[in-house]
Amino acid sequence: MDVSSASFIPRRVSGAAEAREVFAAEGAAIVTGLGDEQSAVAFGREVMGDKAVRIGTQFEATKAHGEKEAAKVAMQPADSRGRKRSFAPTEERMVAHNDGFAFGDHAPDHLFLWCERPAAKGGDSFLIDTSRLLDLLAADPEWAAVADFCRGIDIDHSEPNFPQSVYAPIVRTVPSGRFQGRYHPYLAPVEGLAEEEHWTFVRKWEEAVVAARDTGPMFRVEAGEMICIDNYRVLHGRDGHSDPRRRVCSIWGWSTDAVVIPDGPLDIVVPKLPMSA
Ligand SMILES: [Fe+2]
Repeated sequence: MDVSSASFIPRRVSGAAEAREVFAAEGAAIVTGLGDEQSAVAFGREVMGDKAVRIGTQFEATKAHGEKEAAKVAMQPADSRGRKRSFAPTEERMVAHNDGFAFGDHAPDHLFLWCERPAAKGGDSFLIDTSRLLDLLAADPEWAAVADFCRGIDIDHSEPNFPQSVYAPIVRTVPSGRFQGRYHPYLAPVEGLAEEEHWTFVRKWEEAVVAARDTGPMFRVEAGEMICIDNYRVLHGRDGHSDPRRRVCSIWGWSTDAVVIPDGPLDIVVPKLPMSA
């Protein structure tokens, strides 16, 4: 099945109001002319507008920072199901994901990726609209059952050894009305009698996401540009690169649309859920 049209290149827009409109309609937009991190954070807040609650830089994506975090995560043990956390080397194409996936309902609903310096070569970005992907699956007789599974069956969205308190389907509409479709490398069925059968569907969803990533378009983000992403609806990632000077800031924003807004900062190396669940 051809799912390449679930991947898309976001439109370049000017101004926070237009970014907000395109974000709502298409799931992402790109803005330009943001010279420093502070301006990028301020712009993100403006995009959220009246609904803004919290925003801040979550981490800087650089090769050195990635390697430091990967080393810590590599020390963590596998869980009882044999799942092991790992952060891939920057030279590899990323697994498509929603940021903050380890935090479940506490994940940010807005994501702003501000590029201070792109990689000299490689590191192109990709985006996958899970809403579009679900529609494509649902319209194909061979894949319709996967779409039904994604919409109807609770699974475990937690990372190995960091359980979340609730199960949820892969795709849902959250209380604020926003569409949410999730993917990350550790999705697993809820343990129990149907586990084996459910693995089939979780793996099919993975297959569809990987196909959308690898057959769809990718795009380059230049210095001073920022991708504004609906982190509920759209998966993101970048191609591999080996430039130690590439620097992108991942800025997380919570609006009143979010399912839960955490009280404090979240740690992706040790993703324990905040107490405010
Ligand atoms: Fe990310």
